[in-house]
Amino acid sequence: MKRALILLALAASAGAHAQKFEGLAATPQMGWNSWNSFACDINEKLIRDTADAMVKLGLKDAGYEYVNIDDCWHGKRDKDGVIHPDAERFPSGMKALADYVHSKGLKLGIYSDVGATTCGGRPGSRGHEYQDAITYAAWGVDYIKYDWCDSKGLSAVGAYTTMRDAIRSAGRPMLFSMCEWGDNKPWEWAADIGHSWRTTGDIYPCWDCELSHSNFSRYGVMRILDKQAGLRKYAGPGHWNDMDMLEVGMGMTEDEDRAHFALWAMLASPLILGNDLRSMPDSTRRILTNKDVIAVSQDKLGIPAWKFLDDGKVEYWARPMADGEWAMLVLNRGEQPVALSYDWKAHLVSDDVSKREVDFKKAVYNWREVWGGKSGDTSHKLEAKLAPHSVLLLRLKARG
Ligand code: GLA
Repeated sequence: MKRALILLALAASAGAHAQKFEGLAATPQMGWNSWNSFACDINEKLIRDTADAMVKLGLKDAGYEYVNIDDCWHGKRDKDGVIHPDAERFPSGMKALADYVHSKGLKLGIYSDVGATTCGGRPGSRGHEYQDAITYAAWGVDYIKYDWCDSKGLSAVGAYTTMRDAIRSAGRPMLFSMCEWGDNKPWEWAADIGHSWRTTGDIYPCWDCELSHSNFSRYGVMRILDKQAGLRKYAGPGHWNDMDMLEVGMGMTEDEDRAHFALWAMLASPLILGNDLRSMPDSTRRILTNKDVIAVSQDKLGIPAWKFLDDGKVEYWARPMADGEWAMLVLNRGEQPVALSYDWKAHLVSDDVSKREVDFKKAVYNWREVWGGKSGDTSHKLEAKLAPHSVLLLRLKARG
């Protein structure tokens, strides 16, 4: 009996730590990350200026919240094993930087890795997980991206659970963004561990290419999209499939940028900007702050879109939204323009995840296109011209 009680007490105390912080990603997280534009060339001024730009350019008002420092902020561990930032690049220290970012009404993210060294060869958290989580919490960090380099011999479940528990015991709610590249199918086991998990290797700013390095590849937006097949049922409020950070404003065409952004919103991926906000052209800013696209991303039902039809020329994706609304995206991934003539009534849209269905023979919906503002209803065919590498994104509301 006594033994049973002790075991029960042990299980209860373990249980108290074995939880991620809830409520941190009820909708996919939105923010910015330093990696895609700057890689290791980062410093505290860049982070401050980026926070300023997020406020000044209306990105904060549009919903972007996190300013995330990726790899290479690190200095050395001291004799007690405590990690310090690179003193030349971050001379004021991380606490001061977090205070600055918080003073703008934004949140600060940081990066570490399961291994002894990060992908950029800096000190990782292996063997220092609890110590690092306490350090980050003391700095006022709000978000941890946790990478998978130097992980040989580690169990992914074990390594990410250890960091989750470390964050819990440090006592500060920090969003836990798992960057395991999908190697061990985190969607199958990480809903109680992280708030999001990367589903693929790194993104690259091209439409449909694969860039091979010696031991890894980077993928264009169509390649990443195709790797999401079958994953939508695993995502939902508090645990998202992360399709990697955005490459909008990084060299693709405007049509490609719009398509990339709309697809990430439709599939409920985190929206983490990767461009240099300090020098962003207005055309890019308009894409990234489009209210309707962001409303699709942040819909509180949190059900990612699925492809319900592929007619060989274009793909049709649907996302059920709160209050009976829907979003629909038509994607022309090909090289030729397409003249669209879509008969709503010819296709039942039936979702095996949400169990929602819409039959346009029985119900008429009003639609509004989110880039140009064109509108119409589903009693008439949808007629439109779709340029190569472009999307049409519509929001649909049942007629009252
Ligand atoms: C990995 C991650 C990237 C980035 C780099 C940093 O490649 O997947 O997102 O964090 O490491 O070195």
